[in-house]
Amino acid sequence: DGDENLGSVKQILEMLFAQSIRLTVPDETEVAPIITPCKDLRHGDYQCNNAMSLFARIRGRVPQYSNPPSVGQAIMNNIPTSEIIESSRIAGPGYVNVVLSRKWMAKRIHKMLKDGIETWAPKLPVKRAVVDFSSPNIAKEMHVGHLRSTIIGDTLARMLEFSNVEVLRRNHVGDWGTQFGMLIEYLFETFPDWEVASGQAISDLEAFYKASKQRFDADPEFKERAQQAVVSLQGGEERYRKAWAQICEISRKEFKKVYERLGVHLEEKGESFYNPFIPKALDLLNKEGLIEESEGARVIFVEGISRPLIVVKKDGGYNYASTDLTALWYRLNEEKAEWIIYVTDVGQREHFEMFFTAAKRAGWLPAEADKYPKVNHVGFGLVLGEDGKRFRTRSSEVVKLVDLLDEAKNRCKTALIERGKDKEWTEEELEQTAEAVGYGAVKYADLKNNRLTNYTFNFDQMLNDKGNTAVYLLYAHARICSIIRKSGKEIEELKRVGTVALEHPDERVLGLHLLQFPEVVEEACTNLLPNVLCEYLYNLSEDFTRFYTNCQVVGSAEETSRLLLCEATAVVMRKCFHLLGITPVYKI
Ligand code: ARG
Repeated sequence: DGDENLGSVKQILEMLFAQSIRLTVPDETEVAPIITPCKDLRHGDYQCNNAMSLFARIRGRVPQYSNPPSVGQAIMNNIPTSEIIESSRIAGPGYVNVVLSRKWMAKRIHKMLKDGIETWAPKLPVKRAVVDFSSPNIAKEMHVGHLRSTIIGDTLARMLEFSNVEVLRRNHVGDWGTQFGMLIEYLFETFPDWEVASGQAISDLEAFYKASKQRFDADPEFKERAQQAVVSLQGGEERYRKAWAQICEISRKEFKKVYERLGVHLEEKGESFYNPFIPKALDLLNKEGLIEESEGARVIFVEGISRPLIVVKKDGGYNYASTDLTALWYRLNEEKAEWIIYVTDVGQREHFEMFFTAAKRAGWLPAEADKYPKVNHVGFGLVLGEDGKRFRTRSSEVVKLVDLLDEAKNRCKTALIERGKDKEWTEEELEQTAEAVGYGAVKYADLKNNRLTNYTFNFDQMLNDKGNTAVYLLYAHARICSIIRKSGKEIEELKRVGTVALEHPDERVLGLHLLQFPEVVEEACTNLLPNVLCEYLYNLSEDFTRFYTNCQVVGSAEETSRLLLCEATAVVMRKCFHLLGITPVYKI
């Protein structure tokens, strides 16, 4: 119908208004249409906000326009005729308010049902991106901060993948730090026969790490040996390499368990991977004149920050920054990524700020933040306990991820049993639902907040079946599925023979919200804000509830169309769940 592959409703309107603006002020170039959804649907569905700034620009030069509303009026008159817009009018200082055609909206929803939600994927100006996320440190426990990084990073990757971007999901694990000196030295010292003993002895790596740290802090002679061990390891000495590999493998197995539970897929390219490329990358920076000598170290000074970025330590060793600069070089030049996204807590902001600036000065990245290739640090706040302090267990230990997931699932299972589901369902169904809802609740509670804010971890809140929670949303979706099931109608058949109509006001509101899905995903991607998608999903379920309360579905004259609207809602909700890494449930 001529509207294929034109992108979101917002993008289509942008195209129409771009034409109209060109006709209105032919001498002006590069005027980007400013289109936003109307806040109050009584005014219209979308508005074009260009008249005011355009008038300021042409003031006095184009005599036929005496004020912003006259510019708005001309923009409105010049909109090309299309089947998309039903009516438009001028409001306030020159806004052009647009009402979309119901028929067109209904057709577009029906088409999505037939061709699949993939046809609603937003278009992004990138082909390949790196998402660097999760990235725990070897020999240390994955904590809730890493949980946030894993959840947020996975969602961003999923949204980009849905938008047809090839995503390199990178686990930048800390596998090359100085902690390995003390770990290995302690391993050699405690187990002279370590090759046989180590697997067993260090299976509880965290305890092992603590013990070696104690030894390191208490004994200067050991400390020296540990520092020497780092040199031997980085120099590639066989015995050290082997012990290192073994330690990494144990950690890797633990990490894998968490990823499996969360349904998150990542490819490990740890700090050690980039080590061989460091001299070359630093050489390039040096040739650009970026690297200076300071107090025995090699550093890069960054404007506005007093502390320099150390790239070679006093002892000649490399560090976090040398690795990150090299990884950036590698991702840009070897992997040809156009967008590189780093997900860590906000505490690391300055580190990223500094090496991004260095890379810009070296000409690796364009100076303008909105040009590609582009880098972004996606920072997030702390996870707090109910006491408002950093989230800890009662014995003030770091909370283990696995325990959190277990508890969420168990609480869900208990709630399902209380509702008698153990008698209705198979054990497998019970388990799967408890997992989907429990893990989904943990993820959603994190993602629904603006990531920059700290958020308070609270099981009772996140597992509440009312309010803005995954539990509520998953149940809402299951309820829609059951409406369709109970109608006894074959939905594939309805898609073929039926049509969608949006006659009732609540049908129209729901339909409009459905149509906004592509632009919401686009916004969430562009601004790297998963909470935008959560908000969309929650509002969608509210619009659905209003529709379902006020419009009879089964047994009504509009049954076919309304069932199709139910199905479209379920399809969009499922895609939202999928993008948020949540497994949908179909019955409750
Ligand atoms: N391992 C680091 C940490 O646990 C995070 C690494 C993030 N990625 C990066 N390229 N620096 O804090």
